[in-house]
Amino acid sequence: MSKVATIEIEGKKYEFPVVVGTENELAIDIKQLRGQSGAITLDPGYKNTGACESAITFLDGEKGILRYRGYSIEELAEKADFLEVCYLLIFGELPSKSQLQKFNTDILDQSIVNEDMKTVLNGFPESAHPMGVLSSLTSALTAFNPKSVNVESEEDMYRAIVKILAKFPVLAAWTLRRKNNQTLYNKDTNIGYVESLLKMMFQKEGKNYKQNKTVVNALDKLLILHADHEQNCSTSTVRIVGSSHAGLFASISAGVSALWGPLHGGANQAVIEMLEEIKADGGDTSKFIAKAKDKEDPFRLMGFGHRVYKNFDPRAKIIKKAADEVLGQLGVEDPILEIAKGLEKAALEDQYFVERKLYPNVDFYSGIIYRAMGIPTEMFTVMFAVGRLPGWIAQWREMRMRKEPIGRPRQVYIGETHRKFKDIENR
Ligand code: CMC
Repeated sequence: MSKVATIEIEGKKYEFPVVVGTENELAIDIKQLRGQSGAITLDPGYKNTGACESAITFLDGEKGILRYRGYSIEELAEKADFLEVCYLLIFGELPSKSQLQKFNTDILDQSIVNEDMKTVLNGFPESAHPMGVLSSLTSALTAFNPKSVNVESEEDMYRAIVKILAKFPVLAAWTLRRKNNQTLYNKDTNIGYVESLLKMMFQKEGKNYKQNKTVVNALDKLLILHADHEQNCSTSTVRIVGSSHAGLFASISAGVSALWGPLHGGANQAVIEMLEEIKADGGDTSKFIAKAKDKEDPFRLMGFGHRVYKNFDPRAKIIKKAADEVLGQLGVEDPILEIAKGLEKAALEDQYFVERKLYPNVDFYSGIIYRAMGIPTEMFTVMFAVGRLPGWIAQWREMRMRKEPIGRPRQVYIGETHRKFKDIENR
């Protein structure tokens, strides 16, 4: 029997259908609410608002479950590679061998970035943050690929998707090269997606770049863990920008800007900076726990807490284990890893964090691995963006294919009511 919710406003009752998801999540469909009652809902930060129906990612924050297209994140991180996960997220199924091969070839065919893009890049000072540069370059791609995507055509859509998957890692690598004032390289078409990204970032002029299997595998895993996370801040941004029928590249560029913030993807950089600060301060974690609890102090324990997870973030569990393994295999001893573990232990035993169900999130340990791999701190969020790209694409594609209406929330106005204009002499 279909479920119904009743809302009573000033003595009048209104009935609304209840939508049930495939994992039995319930949502009151209030599309007719304003039309029938004149009222709207108010939910700053959208803590209780479902913005769409989606078949891409399922997460249960209470149980700590995360699945892409039905496959558990634990299994994907162990058995799949990043390109397979890209295909899965975007097209809904794991690719066959031939599908994966074609996908890879199509990406490689599109991997050359227009030479004039280098002029745009060189316009930035070396001090520019790589995330700002990446967002601008992604937006600039539109100028070099002006044909807008006809979303009615699967072929057109596919071409645009493959283009951004091909060029985005090149741009990501270039943001680092620009910072270091180094020669810019294009994608190496003979090696894998992740290997090529590392080579474009770290290749020294006139020297062979030697791939390190541990680094490649660790980065592949990190990219998979970041690949999608349903309607988070940057993904919602991509969907809302795309809902105005702005193009794919412009929507992704907006997503990069949203990801940059320290409450979202920028937390991975902020975590390392926080751990460095604790180390420089003598390593006393209790002082920082006290700061995080103090409501007069704006300081938050970076890498802790999550809007949806009220239990362990399953990605954090995998990354914590990987941090030990990767640092061990690379022979890196980083005192910051011990500080992070101590901080986690202290927080998990503290009433403030227990009561609020604050656990380490995906960003708590990821920076430690990036650091061990030789990736500079300012590049951490760029790596997150490369990982999140397939999620943004999948969500944009789903939104356009479902012909979702333009995103346009309402508000409750709390400003001045009508008043007469005052001449400047009388103000
Ligand atoms: N340190 C100290 N207190 C915290 C923290 C934290 N990291 N996170 C939440 N709280 C407190 C918060 O002060 C509030 O306390 P009270 O109920 O007394 O007012 C309570 O916990 C609930 O927090 P909230 O701000 O209402 O929760 P939210 O869902 O709006 O925010 C969050 C989620 C991730 C923005 C927040 O937990 C946070 O700022 N964490 C630190 C930044 C971070 O690590 N971000 C990465 C998120 S995971 C990767 C990603 O999505 O990009």
